[in-house]
Amino acid sequence: MARHFVCKSEDIVENGMTAFDLAGGRTVLMLKFEERIFACDNVCPHQEVRLDEGMFDEGILTCHQHLWQWNVATGEPVGLAECPLKTYRVHMDDDSVYVDPDVDP
Ligand code: FES
Repeated sequence: MARHFVCKSEDIVENGMTAFDLAGGRTVLMLKFEERIFACDNVCPHQEVRLDEGMFDEGILTCHQHLWQWNVATGEPVGLAECPLKTYRVHMDDDSVYVDPDVDP
């Protein structure tokens, strides 16, 4: 599937995260840390909880429900998390941000 336009770079604040709906009904969570933008599923791999209701700091995403955490650059679990987070490849074209939700990073 072709990559999807998500937002402009300035739509995501540094050390912050915002969820965006893609065409087709999928939602991605976009995160910015140290001027880099990352993308992942917005649903916790533990239970059906929205991750944009959690916390994001220093590149680590935390689900508010049971405090599982992931490194958003790799999707690798940190601390209590028992499985990885699904991440997506991010493409930049000037200040436009795209993801390909069907291709691993
Ligand atoms: S539902 Fe997210 S850590 Fe349990």
